[in-house]
Amino acid sequence: MTLKERTQVGIVGAGPAGLLLSHLLALGGVESRVVEVRSRAHCEARQRAGMLEPATAQLLRDTGLGRRLDAEGLEHDGIYLQFAGERHHMNFRELTGRGVTIYPQTEIVKDLIQIRNANGGIAEFGATDSEVAGLDSDLPELRYTDAAGQRHEVSCDVIAGCDGFRGICRPAIPAGGLRTIALRTYPFSWLGILAQAPPSTDQVIYARHERGFALHSMRTPQIGRLYLQVPADDDISQWPDDRIWDELSLRLAVPGWHLRTGPVLDKSITGMRSFVATPMRYRRLFLAGDAAHIVPPTGAKGLNLAVADVAALATALIGLLRYGRSDLVDAYSDTCQERAWRATYLSWWMTTMLHVLPRQDPFDSALQIAQLRNLTSSRAAGAMLAEIYTGGAPVRFDPSPKASPAAFLGPESLVPAWDDSR
Ligand code: PHB
Repeated sequence: MTLKERTQVGIVGAGPAGLLLSHLLALGGVESRVVEVRSRAHCEARQRAGMLEPATAQLLRDTGLGRRLDAEGLEHDGIYLQFAGERHHMNFRELTGRGVTIYPQTEIVKDLIQIRNANGGIAEFGATDSEVAGLDSDLPELRYTDAAGQRHEVSCDVIAGCDGFRGICRPAIPAGGLRTIALRTYPFSWLGILAQAPPSTDQVIYARHERGFALHSMRTPQIGRLYLQVPADDDISQWPDDRIWDELSLRLAVPGWHLRTGPVLDKSITGMRSFVATPMRYRRLFLAGDAAHIVPPTGAKGLNLAVADVAALATALIGLLRYGRSDLVDAYSDTCQERAWRATYLSWWMTTMLHVLPRQDPFDSALQIAQLRNLTSSRAAGAMLAEIYTGGAPVRFDPSPKASPAAFLGPESLVPAWDDSR
């Protein structure tokens, strides 16, 4: 027996994008259902960068998700850029008035699941055989088998693909439905570890070294998160813990500084890729977050982009489904792509400036050093990095009937993040 059901928005994926969309829609009086193939435990443990732009943190606070974020988030004024054995502090707060907050994605996902459960939201974890169908009709369907084996066919006004780069939604778009797919694969990967070791730095260190890039980040005052550039085809079995710590100590070294080590709790290798699909919509299917675009982790933009997409999408879908206006959904893709490309630019810039190519020539190496020296010695150059790194553009969520497409983004992007006069 198949259960035939109805919801307003069928959401594929229970990462930060899908769960936040469901939460924001509920705040605007729109019903949704989240379907996820992974288990809840998997979603709550998935390691991703946890660096929030101020506008991202503000949106979370403004929508009831600020309690643990404010208690446990680590406020950073900026970052360290390291090269040629020197470590330079880039004080973003001094340059732009904005810092960043470290609050891991795992915790955002836990907060979102908790608030959705408390508000009676429906999220199905551990679903199988999920598919989207009828994308050319006015009532597309989200079909899946739940964890107990029950088959569901849910008719939806709209489907939101929040199911990541390898999800089912983007490939379900018929040929010709996507105008362009811009893709760049970088010829190296990141080996990331989570370590039971108090961070040896108060702010994130980005280090360019002749042996390759290294990054020292953190999750809590007790848990470090560190990365090494490794060859694209490298195998994690080649990296016993001692080798990882030795390499990190070498690449992060500056005189008088010592890297604290500890048990490695988790380690994995991730490819470095950049991708943008345009437009982020096919009829009644909307793509958000990694389903529409991915960035390499350098600069930690992925989560921030996903939150910005979802704030715009929730505003647009509330406009459509509650107030019967289509101007906001029509503006959705363009609204989000401007920000996505700015983030793509930042992550490309930082990636190419800080990583060493397999057979890098001396010209490129000297240029990287010259660029880093310019960034760390010119206030104007530093301010440009600081502006893009810390975001700048407000993240708009406006569930009111008078939400404006012009207010989403655009040249007025440096206005305050939240407008209390709504
Ligand atoms: C992280 O904390 O995992 C992180 C921070 C900054 C980055 C990338 C990753 O640029």
